[in-house]
Amino acid sequence: MNERYTELLERLRGVIDGPGEAAARLEAVCALLADNIEHYDWVGFYLVSPREPDTLILGPYVGEPTEHTRIAFGAGVCGRAALERATIEVPDVRAESNYLSCSLAVRAEIVLPLHHDGEFVGELDIDSHRPDPFTPDDRALLDALARLCGPPAAAAR
Ligand code: SME
Repeated sequence: MNERYTELLERLRGVIDGPGEAAARLEAVCALLADNIEHYDWVGFYLVSPREPDTLILGPYVGEPTEHTRIAFGAGVCGRAALERATIEVPDVRAESNYLSCSLAVRAEIVLPLHHDGEFVGELDIDSHRPDPFTPDDRALLDALARLCGPPAAAAR
């Protein structure tokens, strides 16, 4: 991972381990990512409530408001990542049939599942206005970040 991303990951870790409510720390994570990485245009969390185990509910985010505040498992990229419990990267959303559009400006998306104590608790979702923008450094940064975000995501549900 490049030096800039390594430093950013340390700042993200500081926020996650810092004081404050879990939801506020997750929102600060979104802001740090959106402010520091030019090709991250919408950054947000979807959370899974124990009372509604098959639905993703929009949590803290930074970017344009989205109509997709509740997503059934299986629907769109987020819903598919929830079923598969796997990271899904879509380099060109226009080529994706199972996709829920938030804005016509979005060209690419990556969704990472979050776990806590072995339980699927939510997702980190990033939209980009640039086609095919995610590099191996992005994957390394986001994989490490997703591991850190499980506990606050579980607490924010
Ligand atoms: N595009 C997502 C929906 C969420 S928005 O990007 C914020 C999807 O296809 O699941």
